[in-house]
Amino acid sequence: MAAANSHLQLGSTAACADRLLLRLAASPLLRRQQQRQRRLVCAPVRALAAPQELVSLASGLAGAASGLPAAVTGATAGWPAPLATVATTLAADVADVVALQPTAWGAAHLATVYYFFLARPSPVVGLLDFYVLAPLARVLQRRFSERDFTLRDRLGGGNYGQVFEGLLNDKGRPDPLTKELTPAQKKRRVILKKANMDAQGIRTNFLKSGTIARGAAETGFVEAYICARVMRHPRVRAVVAEFIGQFEASGTMGGITSGSQWLVWKFESDSTLGDACEGALGPFPDSLSGIMLGRRGEAMDDEKRAVAVIKVVMRKLFVALERLHSLGIVHRDVKPENILVTGNGGVKLIDFGAACDLSTGVNFNPEYGMLDPRYAAPEELVMPKNFPRAPPPLLAAMLAPCAWAWGAPDLFDSYSAGVVLMQLSIPQLRSNAAQRSFNSELANCDYDLDTWRNTSPKARQMDFSLLDRNNGQGWDLAVKLLRLKNKLNRGRLSCSQALRHPFLLLPA
Ligand SMILES: Nc1ncnc2c1ncn2[C@@H]1O[C@H](COP(=O)(O)OP(=O)(O)O)[C@@H](O)[C@H]1O
Ligand SMILES: [Mg+2]
Repeated sequence: MAAANSHLQLGSTAACADRLLLRLAASPLLRRQQQRQRRLVCAPVRALAAPQELVSLASGLAGAASGLPAAVTGATAGWPAPLATVATTLAADVADVVALQPTAWGAAHLATVYYFFLARPSPVVGLLDFYVLAPLARVLQRRFSERDFTLRDRLGGGNYGQVFEGLLNDKGRPDPLTKELTPAQKKRRVILKKANMDAQGIRTNFLKSGTIARGAAETGFVEAYICARVMRHPRVRAVVAEFIGQFEASGTMGGITSGSQWLVWKFESDSTLGDACEGALGPFPDSLSGIMLGRRGEAMDDEKRAVAVIKVVMRKLFVALERLHSLGIVHRDVKPENILVTGNGGVKLIDFGAACDLSTGVNFNPEYGMLDPRYAAPEELVMPKNFPRAPPPLLAAMLAPCAWAWGAPDLFDSYSAGVVLMQLSIPQLRSNAAQRSFNSELANCDYDLDTWRNTSPKARQMDFSLLDRNNGQGWDLAVKLLRLKNKLNRGRLSCSQALRHPFLLLPA
């Protein structure tokens, strides 16, 4: 009856609207004012008329949902009693909500399910991983030793470790060291990272103590933990380098010394985005056109192709980061050197030594960050300074959705991705020196990119044409990624918001 009344009322509102529009159209004296009147009057009147359709849609939905509890009861008939009861209760709660007649208990049930299973990062996923899957994986994982690998070239090294390219030995037999690899050997290529051992070693219960890695050994330990964690998640493992495992050498063999700690990944690519950007593969971004655009790029003019390549790379980077964030992990070291570009056009994240897992508090201390000043967000810390230290993982996981919603720690990575976007798009920003001076100039402008562009003498020498294309869509995205966080820890686009920005949604 109430529904019928509201139909009547809305029907008369719609009729009024039509009469009003007819009168406006008929009067010749009002012709000049017609357009202005339409803007002023039609919009609100039509908005009033629209709910008529909404009401019939809602009553249709409510009718359909009323059958849901019975359908779920039938479908779960063979389930164990408690599970079937939970499913039927939730179905009844959903039906009540759809019928716009929620009960307090029903709303509480649905809010609990949302909080524990669907909110980001999900407490259930975090707890299951930390207390069940991670210990199980440690028991079941393949055990490696120094006999399983042949070291080849050293790719780099720093305070925390040294990185080598190598081979996973076939049946434990070391490969002869030839310059060229056979196709069979190429399939066994790996990356080995030797964690520098320092006097501090690894604290017992370090993962559970709500603190950040102290020294090289703990950094290696964290990296292995985070890599193993992301490999257990199918959506995320597709966007990171495949982690094979870790081992401590029990003897000395072919450059692997007794007692050293190693982390091993599948060799995913010969080049990082940093290599591509520096021109190691040819003039950038044309050098990536083939793998990122395929034949599609051939029909485009140079500028359009360049923007199209940058869009594809940035889209893939944001997808990778967004998936990582969905687990509650912040990378904290996003930069072209830590992004692999694979032969089939994939973009994969590497180097998780600085990452923190906020779903369990692993490698997180509110007062410390690990950062590369060229790419780190100005707030330097992923959470506000006054954020409390992480409680034990059980509690941290339960509180994680609230902590994440409040502190928006993922915006740390979206800032770094914004710097990457600037570097890919502006050739004059690709060198380290240019990058540093851009950073300090931007800081002087309070991270207002428009002010920097209008005032910096260096900016005047730069080519912004790729960002300015299509009404400055790329520029607008960069402006929104490089902003300061505001008092509510917002004000900068997150990776999922960036993926909905016109620059990444629309073709070049
Ligand atoms: N899975 C991988 N496949 C191919 N190359 C890799 C892989 N992981 C690392 N690399 C190469 O090794 C370099 C250093 O690795 P990274 O993990 O970033 O170590 P670091 O902590 O020294 O920066 C990378 O820049 C990249 O060139
Ligand atoms: Mg690195």
